[in-house]
Order: sequence, then structure tokens, then C-alpha cells
Amino acid sequence: MSPTGQEHLRVLLRRSAIQRRIREMGRQISRDFRGERLHLIGVLKGASIFLSDLIRQIRLEVSLDFMAVSSYGKGSQTSGQVRLTKDLDTSIEGLNVVLVEDILDTGLTLHYLYRILQQRRPKALRVAVLLDKPERRVQEVKVDYVGFQIPNEFVVGYGLDYAERYRNLRDVCVLSLPPE
Ligand code: IMP
Ligand code: MG
Repeated sequence: MSPTGQEHLRVLLRRSAIQRRIREMGRQISRDFRGERLHLIGVLKGASIFLSDLIRQIRLEVSLDFMAVSSYGKGSQTSGQVRLTKDLDTSIEGLNVVLVEDILDTGLTLHYLYRILQQRRPKALRVAVLLDKPERRVQEVKVDYVGFQIPNEFVVGYGLDYAERYRNLRDVCVLSLPPE
């Protein structure tokens, strides 16, 4: 796929490395919850690709639900505001929940979602993210499963978008934008 205008893509994480890491994460989650049932909650839309690969690496009885939030605007700048735009379909009371997100950046989104879910009294609540940009953290969040720590650069692909584009790239790429 060739980007438009002056946009430039550079591969940061290859598809093979992503798949290998997700297999490890799935094995670890399966070990941690051995003999239990698991309820995965994906954060739309970015986490959908990661979640669909991760769930198939989990050797447990698993159910699935989704939430959606709006935090980022159309571009690459966060607004700092988080709003729930789609809630869960079913109660999570008494369930072993793993919240699955594409990327942990400032931490505002996951902090907000974690608080909401914790109030609903799950049996356990853990967080899995594919990517973590620690340099950008504004709000501390405890995450249990991290795919990759990455530098402070704007990335797209494997579910991550820039203005809704590039979600279908199979590698995670750094996107360079032309100066405004
Ligand atoms: P946070 O609330 O700042 O942690 O941001 C989390 C959300 O911002 C993620 O769910 C992504 O949708 C978006 N985001 C943060 N960093 C990037 C990036 O590098 N590329 C694409 N989306 C990003
Ligand atoms: Mg997003």
C-alpha cells in the first residue's frame, strides 16, 4: 500500500514477530487462568485485530465482549477526554476479565476503562496491551500483559489507525507525517 502525499511508513514490528509474541502471551494467559473460564473485553476498534489473534492462542473456555471509547480525534493528537460510546452487552460480575487494548499511550483510556470495569465487581480484572509507549504516560496504569514496549513514535497497522486508515497493515509501522 502506498501512502498518500508526504506520509511515510517504516516497519517497526514485523508480522512474524507480532505473531510469535502473541503466541507467548496466549500461553501465559492460559497458564495464569488454568482451570478457569475467561472473559475477554476488546476496546474497539484498534484492538480488534490483536484480540482476534490473541483469543485463538488461549486454551481455555473463553467468552468475548467489546467496548468502545472516543479519546483520540481524527489525527494523532489525544484530546485527553475519554468517553464511553459503546458499553458491554452483558454483566461481568464474578467473571475473570482480561481487558484487551491495542496500545497504552498516555494511559488515560485504560485508566478510565479499568475504573468502570472494577466497579462492576469482576472476580479478576487484568489488562493486556499489544504495545506500550512508556515515555508518553500521563496516568499510571497497571498492565499485566505487554506485547512490546516501543519508542515515542506514532504507529499504524495491525489495527492501529491514522484517521481510520492503515488498520489493515500486517506489520506495525511508524508513520511520518508531512509538516503542517
Ligand atoms: P491513551 O489514552 O493516550 O493511552 O491512548 C490510547 C488510544 O490512543 C489507543 O487506544 C489508540 O487508539 C490511540 N493511540 C495512541 N497512540 C497511538 C499511535 O501511536 N497510533 C495510533 N493510535 C494511537
Ligand atoms: Mg484508536
